[in-house]
Amino acid sequence: MTTQPLVHDPAIGLPLQQVGPTTTFDASQWRLYFEENRKMRPAVKLPNEIVLNESVQEPLIRSLQKFQLGETGEGHHLRKYAKHYGDADYTKCVDMFIKEEQSHAQILSQVILTMNGNLLSWHWTDVVFTVFRRVLHLKTELLVLLIAEVIGKCFYKYVVDKVDNKPLEEIFSLMVLDEIMHLKFHTEFLSEQLRPYPWVMKHIVHYVWCMLFYTACFAFVMDHRKALTALNVSSGDFIATCSKTFHVKATRALGMQ
Ligand SMILES: [Fe+2]
Ligand SMILES: [Fe+2]
Repeated sequence: MTTQPLVHDPAIGLPLQQVGPTTTFDASQWRLYFEENRKMRPAVKLPNEIVLNESVQEPLIRSLQKFQLGETGEGHHLRKYAKHYGDADYTKCVDMFIKEEQSHAQILSQVILTMNGNLLSWHWTDVVFTVFRRVLHLKTELLVLLIAEVIGKCFYKYVVDKVDNKPLEEIFSLMVLDEIMHLKFHTEFLSEQLRPYPWVMKHIVHYVWCMLFYTACFAFVMDHRKALTALNVSSGDFIATCSKTFHVKATRALGMQ
C-alpha cells in the first residue's frame, strides 16, 4: 500500500495534511501519517486576549472547559489495550493519537485562558464517558471513543463556521482536520476487527452503538444548549449533523454499506 498524497481541505481552508490509508487498515501507514502530522503541525498563535460577542463568550467558555477536560488524559487504558493487541505500529499510532488529543487539550487551555475563562478540574460528563469507555476491552473503548470524536469534530466545525474570530477559526480548523483523521483511523481499525463478526452480531452491535450514540448526543445538546444557542445552532441541527457523520462511520466500521 502506498501513502496517499498531501491534500488541502477546501472546506476548511487550512494547512496541507497527509491523508491516511483508505482501504484496509495498515498500522505502518497510519504510523507514517501520525509522524508526518506531528512534524507539519503549525505553531498555535493566539492573541493576548479574545473577546467575542457577549452572548457567545461565556457559553462558549463553559463548553470548551468540558471539551478541554475530555481531551485531557494519559490514555492508560487505551494504551494498555493497544499494547495487548500486539502490533508495535498500532501501539505507536495509539500513542501518537493520544498525544494529539493532549495537544488539543493544551490548545483549548490556551483558548479558554485567552478568553478570560478558567479551567475545570472535573465534570460529571467526563467521568461518565471515561467509565463507559473502560467497561470492556479495546473494541468497546473505540466504539465509545468514536462517538466522542464525532461530537467533538462537529462541535469544533460549528465553532469554525459560526464564531467570527480569525484566530479561533484557524485553531479549530486545525483540530477539525485532526478529528477527521482520528475518525478515519478508528473506523478503519474497527472495520478490520469487526469483519469476522457474523451478520446478526454486526446488527446487534449497530443497534447498541446507535442507542449509545443518540443517548450521548441528547445528553450533549442538553448540557451544551447555551453554547449551541449562542452559536445559532439548533439542537436538532446539531444532532442531525452528528448523526450523518456517525452513520457513515458506523456502517463503514461494520461493513454494512
Ligand atoms: Fe481532539
Ligand atoms: Fe480526536
